[in-house]
Amino acid sequence: MTRKPEVPFPGSIEELGTAGDAGALAHYSDPAYYTKTYGGRRHDVDYYVRLARRSKGPVLEYGVGNGRVALGIASAGVEVFGVDLSRTMLDDLGKKLAESPPKLRQRVHLTHGDMREVRLERRFPLVIAPFNALLHLYEREDFEALFARVREHLAADGRFVFDFSVPQPDDLCRDPDRWFGAPRIRHPTMDGIVRYDERFDYDQFRQLLLVTTRFSPERGKPWTIPLTHRQIFPREMEALLHYNGFTEIEFTADFSDVPADRHTDSAVVSCRPA
Ligand SMILES: C[S@@+](CC[C@H](N)C(=O)[O-])C[C@H]1O[C@@H](n2cnc3c(N)ncnc32)[C@H](O)[C@@H]1O
Repeated sequence: MTRKPEVPFPGSIEELGTAGDAGALAHYSDPAYYTKTYGGRRHDVDYYVRLARRSKGPVLEYGVGNGRVALGIASAGVEVFGVDLSRTMLDDLGKKLAESPPKLRQRVHLTHGDMREVRLERRFPLVIAPFNALLHLYEREDFEALFARVREHLAADGRFVFDFSVPQPDDLCRDPDRWFGAPRIRHPTMDGIVRYDERFDYDQFRQLLLVTTRFSPERGKPWTIPLTHRQIFPREMEALLHYNGFTEIEFTADFSDVPADRHTDSAVVSCRPA
């Protein structure tokens, strides 16, 4: 199988950090690998499905990917509109939908495009951006553009809910020349067993964390995939939302209803237009 990158893969953090670049998309160039890695993650799906049911829909999901969350929402009987910049992920979701019962298929509507730009010309009671989708925005202007789109798409009493990984000091101070080993895996698209390890490089001025994953097959050449996540500190996120027209900004911990605190890994944010 040949991997077809949607964008070329530069290796260094200096070349990354623009919304829609390789650091934002390369990680999603192999949907089968994405599914193998994250398909078992259920707690966030269950959480968003509960919110979707309560809202009665339709739901707008930014960064819908290959449908890990959207398919859960549609299976619960709620209509979902998904936006994503990765054609590869959307095509994979399209294939899954083609094999799904027509009723479920009809509840899912997909748009290829940048979440900072897409306009669907309708309003939703619930807009979501699960699993760190917002960390693929790097500059203040990117957040301003997305938040303007969210406000345009939200009903007056609607809610915007998303989650993001709280920056972890340990990840930000690792030696960028050191590779951290991870278990060997049976790769779903490359033949056979593949060893992989990861390197963490943090740019503390731009608040960008580049995680480079290196895959080393037993036979053949190794390859690397970059993933750049903007590190957004909780108080910075609160300020961005406040100054971009959101109110009732609540942070809860790890898909529970408990308020977020110093032990929280994934902060779940819920807010509404001011
Ligand atoms: C971590 S995945 C989440 C996918 C899915 N929601 C899930 O939970 O499995 C983040 C998604 O955001 C998409 N993405 C990144 N930058 C984007 C942008 N500027 N506009 C729209 N989608 C973007 C990626 O293509 C990817 O599918």
